[in-house]
Amino acid sequence: MSDKIAVYPGSFDPVTNGHIDIIKRSSRIFSKVIVAILNNYEKVPLFTVEERIDLIRKALCTDKGIEITSFDGLLVDFAASVKARIIVRGLREVSDFEYEFQMALMNRRLNESIETVFMMPKAEYSYLSSSVIREIASLNGNIKGLVPENVREALLKTLNQK
Ligand code: PNS
Repeated sequence: MSDKIAVYPGSFDPVTNGHIDIIKRSSRIFSKVIVAILNNYEKVPLFTVEERIDLIRKALCTDKGIEITSFDGLLVDFAASVKARIIVRGLREVSDFEYEFQMALMNRRLNESIETVFMMPKAEYSYLSSSVIREIASLNGNIKGLVPENVREALLKTLNQK
């Protein structure tokens, strides 16, 4: 296991500027950041996992030290399989804390050698979430500046087709 490899897991349906901010901040600290999209068979996502991978890849101007992939099953098992000892999670506001605290402690119980670290996005992204973006976009609200431009275009296209 390496201290330099971090996994940044999530649903990313779709990726927001807040997520991109965390990916870029983590990639300045860790030598490799693996953005890992959960393949959640219980939920019907707006974008397929392949689309989400593609959207993140295109939104990042550089892929230096950043890998984008998907995973099934337990996050700690995935992290161990890619030799990562660090899980990165973004903390936007105090209300995130309870859920994140539970998840971090449960993940630690499942695998003591994996540590969760929290990072704060830019304050201007602290109220952003993928679900809010999906809702605003579906109601024709303006999401400019909140998601990467390629994501905004993909949202308009996908929602217009529905
Ligand atoms: O962006 P999200 O939806 O808040 O991400 C949640 C995610 C994917 C990190 C979490 O649901 C997860 O890790 N799921 C994998 C299954 C697992 O390991 N569950 C135990 C977590 S305590």
